[in-house]
Amino acid sequence: MRILSGIQPSGEVHLGNYFGAIRQHIELQARGQGVYFIADYHSMTSVRDGAQRRELVRELALDYLACGLDPRRSILYRQSDLPETCELAWLLTTVTPMGLLQRATSYKDKLAAGLSPDHGLFAYPVLQAADILQFQADVVPVGQDQKQHIEMARDIAVKFNQTYEREVFKLPEPHILEDVAVVPGVDGRKMSKSYDNTLRMFWPEKQLRKAVMAIVTDSTPVEQPKDTSQTLFQLWSLFATKDEREEMFARAQAGGLGYGDVKKDLAERLLRFFEPMRTRREELARRPDQVEDLLCDGARRARELAMETWDLARDAAGLGAS
Ligand code: TRP
Repeated sequence: MRILSGIQPSGEVHLGNYFGAIRQHIELQARGQGVYFIADYHSMTSVRDGAQRRELVRELALDYLACGLDPRRSILYRQSDLPETCELAWLLTTVTPMGLLQRATSYKDKLAAGLSPDHGLFAYPVLQAADILQFQADVVPVGQDQKQHIEMARDIAVKFNQTYEREVFKLPEPHILEDVAVVPGVDGRKMSKSYDNTLRMFWPEKQLRKAVMAIVTDSTPVEQPKDTSQTLFQLWSLFATKDEREEMFARAQAGGLGYGDVKKDLAERLLRFFEPMRTRREELARRPDQVEDLLCDGARRARELAMETWDLARDAAGLGAS
């Protein structure tokens, strides 16, 4: 089974990214051939600074490697190291109906938010289709928000196969990451960079503790029973076993439990959980050449896998010498 997913480089990872995607990507490595890439081409639709993009890519590579992406078992590559993907996107874009792209909710949402759209934003799903189809990927683990993009990749694959009357592309299945926790941010809304309410697991310890202490809670006095549906308890539960959670919730409902103590315990658990990853990240950060080598090697292996499909597609379309 070939598993493929792309990750946008968008700044330091936080608990929402980790429990919402990274952890599942890492776990899936054991179930097949994992191919993961850093979507720097896609990031061009939002990040407009070249130096910043390089930095974001480097950071994301460190995050994934630190969190357990195993470069011997899986492939990690930088999207722009395979420029052929952009060529394939052209082949696909010539069979993609305008209406299909106009229906994309991510595009419609950005329009609704008042963004003045450029063609890159509009064509974004076609490049994503090229990412997926070039590897003949079986499953594409993504969050719910990306489901439509995977369906579009299927539609585009069908269209190409029909147009050129050849089974060039296999139809990918979305693998929606369902058992993932919805991670609330420190203010109670969904944890998101754009709300500035994140907990970043690789922040310096002091900063992380401070951010944990600032998690919103209601004003129930210590002795009173607590509402365990609050953000604080949800975040705490990410780092507890089922039994521990039951015990904690019973204590909270009995009254006499102070929020400060729960926060301190959460900070300890969080730091302990990410400790090995933090150490690995620091080690890797000291060896940037090694990380670059890993990415280059990833690109080489990814190219080997995609080459056959590129050739098939070009041949079906009658491009280049026969
Ligand atoms: N659009 C995806 C996101 O924002 C990133 C992405 C790009 C991707 N290409 C992909 C995901 C291919 C899965 C497969 O999260």
